[in-house]
Amino acid sequence: QQNGKPHFYKPIVESFEEAPLHVMVFTYMGYALGTLFGYFRDFLRNWGIEKCKAAAERKEQKDFVPLYLDFENFFKRNIYVRIRDNWNRPICSSPASRFDIMERVSDDYNWTFRFTGKIIKDVINMGSYNFLGLGVKYNESMRTVKDVLEAYGVGVASTRQEMGTLDKHKELEDLVAKFLNVEAAMVFGMGFATNSMNIPALVGKGCLILSDELNHTSLVLGARLSGATIRVFKHNNTKNLEKLLRDAVIYGQPRTHRAWKKILILVEGIYSMEGSIVHLPQIVALKNKYKAYLYIDEAHSIGTMGPTGRGVVEFFGMDPRDVDVLMGTFSKSFGSSGGYIAGRKDLVDYLRVNSHSAVYATSMSPPVSEQIIRSIKFLMGMDGTTQGTQRVQQLAKNTRYFRQRLKQMGFIVYGNEESPVVPLLLYMPGKIAAFARLLLKKKIGVVVVGFPATPLAGARARFCVSAAHTREDLDTVLEAIDEIGDLLQLKYSRRRKS
Ligand SMILES: Cc1ncc(COP(=O)(O)O)c(C=O)c1O
Repeated sequence: QQNGKPHFYKPIVESFEEAPLHVMVFTYMGYALGTLFGYFRDFLRNWGIEKCKAAAERKEQKDFVPLYLDFENFFKRNIYVRIRDNWNRPICSSPASRFDIMERVSDDYNWTFRFTGKIIKDVINMGSYNFLGLGVKYNESMRTVKDVLEAYGVGVASTRQEMGTLDKHKELEDLVAKFLNVEAAMVFGMGFATNSMNIPALVGKGCLILSDELNHTSLVLGARLSGATIRVFKHNNTKNLEKLLRDAVIYGQPRTHRAWKKILILVEGIYSMEGSIVHLPQIVALKNKYKAYLYIDEAHSIGTMGPTGRGVVEFFGMDPRDVDVLMGTFSKSFGSSGGYIAGRKDLVDYLRVNSHSAVYATSMSPPVSEQIIRSIKFLMGMDGTTQGTQRVQQLAKNTRYFRQRLKQMGFIVYGNEESPVVPLLLYMPGKIAAFARLLLKKKIGVVVVGFPATPLAGARARFCVSAAHTREDLDTVLEAIDEIGDLLQLKYSRRRKS
């Protein structure tokens, strides 16, 4: 029961299948071998036999504590660099469902790259957060953005609290509040700063933050900057969260045992590395039980979850008032940039006065605001069509289709059945590179992720499904993955669906 109303929540269907033992053994062996060779090559570099282009300690600083000597640097120098061609590939078109990639080669084993001048055209894009396909290049539907650019220019050159509040910001904020069905909203020029600059305005010394272990860096930075005490709970683990909440209420602050001034729970809507969705109903029940506040970052879930794209609150059929601070970004589903905080009017008014982002940062650029206004109106059907909702539903269909086919093929796929972020586990370091390279040969662009962004033995490919993908696009990708999966023996799942 929430806000006096009974709710029937959607069941959470998610899977995090463990890899078979032999896969783990081979994965660690792969890294062990790479590490051994790494030490050998560092030895050769120390003696000047092999050239190293990575940052190195300067000779005249030999009495200082080494600046670059930690495992992550060792890892980058000796393992990551060998497969670096699969990351940061330069793209020269908008992030639509098909995009163009600039071909590059390396003459020195991936230390540096050289462009060949060729463009790899029409690559199927499985890596962008362009979930609703709204981040495409200029066309007639974006005419209003062009008009605003002509009328207002690009820059605002002032902060929100000084002279930088424009009618476009007011219009956007009213629209965001209406879209989310809350009292008020405030927008900021950068999603990252929305978290890192607003959390410190809400909590400080003597407060406690309970943060999911997989929270985004912007949340982590905001929590650290706030000066509050931070305790981390296991990902989406409500038992662990309840234990921390209970301990916090019983024992209070360390040493003095005075009660915490505030307890703030920080979570995300969709976790972009795991494809999992926050267990919102359980977390809301806990926060009500222990009288804590809940801050939820909907960067990936706003626009993508729920029947009309209003995020995880709508997905679970809950009331927006169940969450104290609703945060989201405009850089994914809305094809723009920036972030928002929404909720009760007193919260938003407080942030308008106290947030560093409102006081010290330049306001959002007007054409950027207009692109968000256009996207929200499109989603809300205020453009006179139902295309916005259709896109949200298309995304849900594409997501289920793509996930189910991968599972039928026998891959280990992480996360919630309805998350458009789809991690496919690769595990072994050699396979990360082979998978991405072979797919690019077939004109499919994917994002692969490994240590330190994931645990050492948790390397994966992370697909982002979009409403703009056609069934033909998805089938082409699935066929290629099926073939490469057989070739590289990636079908590790023991729960293969018929
Ligand atoms: C969960 C989460 N929060 C915040 C951000 C930062 O948003 P932006 O990239 O719009 O600055 C990101 C970026 O990917 C994110 O994934």
